[in-house]
Amino acid sequence: MDLLEKIKKNAVKLQNHIVLPEGSEIRTLKAAAQILQEKIARITLLGNRSVIESIAQQEGISVSGARIVDPSTDNNRQKYAEMMVELRKSKGLTISKAYELLNDPLYFGVMMIKAGDADGEVAGAINATGDVLRPALQYVKTLPGVSVVSGLFFMMFKDKSIGDNGILVFADCAVMPDPDKFQLAEIAVTTAKSAKAIANIEPRVAMLSFSTKGSAQHELVDKVSQATKIAAGMDPELLIDGEMQLDAALVPEVGQLKAPGSKVAGRANVLIFPGLESGNIGYKLVQRLAGAEAVGPVLQGMAAPINDLSRGCSVSDIVNMVAITANQAGEKK
Ligand code: ACO
Repeated sequence: MDLLEKIKKNAVKLQNHIVLPEGSEIRTLKAAAQILQEKIARITLLGNRSVIESIAQQEGISVSGARIVDPSTDNNRQKYAEMMVELRKSKGLTISKAYELLNDPLYFGVMMIKAGDADGEVAGAINATGDVLRPALQYVKTLPGVSVVSGLFFMMFKDKSIGDNGILVFADCAVMPDPDKFQLAEIAVTTAKSAKAIANIEPRVAMLSFSTKGSAQHELVDKVSQATKIAAGMDPELLIDGEMQLDAALVPEVGQLKAPGSKVAGRANVLIFPGLESGNIGYKLVQRLAGAEAVGPVLQGMAAPINDLSRGCSVSDIVNMVAITANQAGEKK
């Protein structure tokens, strides 16, 4: 059974409740119908009931098993607005501004989770990453002891000799534009934990750079080698090494040549990029040119699972992301 099948099967067992703020978007509705049919999660669609029902009817799909909640009229608005003011009083949030924000399904969905009225959220089919993330970062915030939210991809290859049975984990590819050495270390440790928790991968983490073990001198290289030491201090059991170039991380002969004695070089299965430029470009290169399936971004470090979609996502991408989100929610209970 492949990773996504396992994740879906586990989601069926968990029966978590996932909110989809883009409730009148056609791919989202088709995904909701499939999720309900396969019993992957309980679903709340945000939006106007008659609009949602008429689109579903036009498309010939049934979402009758979903709850439909209209953020502009729902009875919970007062409760959520008061919670928002309490959470953001230091930022000067007023009650009237909170009511206004709640008209935006992305804020409403996040407040459902914060109030314990849903277990997780998936959005981003029609909204940019920043717009999906901002309400989550402001109101749901990070897990205790974590300061950085980041996004990983499971890169799935037909060639099972690559990585861990055909899977490599890439991060951060989605969130943190320019992490400092402490943030980069945290991204490495969090990604290793996610690889184990979601895909049962025993992580071997390579901290990527354009230099291997001091072959080049530059402050960018220093950042990665210092982050490697910090991460090793945060989790002494973790198999992590760097800084290293991509070929040293993945190709055994090159790894042996450039980083002799390393337990990671040549056999890394978790690749940590030094910044978002390389991470985002890197995963898309592998997806588009090497034909790997890119499953993600799976957001990690958030106090509740909230995941972002690419605006080019397919119906099955949404179904998969809901199943992953349901699994993440399950782990926290
Ligand atoms: N982890 C934890 N908290 C964070 C993070 C983070 N990575 N980034 C921001 N925050 C917090 C801030 O501390 C702040 O908290 P506060 O309001 O309580 O003080 C809050 O979130 C808002 O932060 P801002 O910096 O004011 O928000 P901003 O909108 O400028 O930035 C964002 C946050 C949206 C994540 C931004 O960094 C961003 O746009 N990142 C890139 C996202 C992106 O476009 N990715 C590429 C596309 S994804 C893809 O292709 C798969």
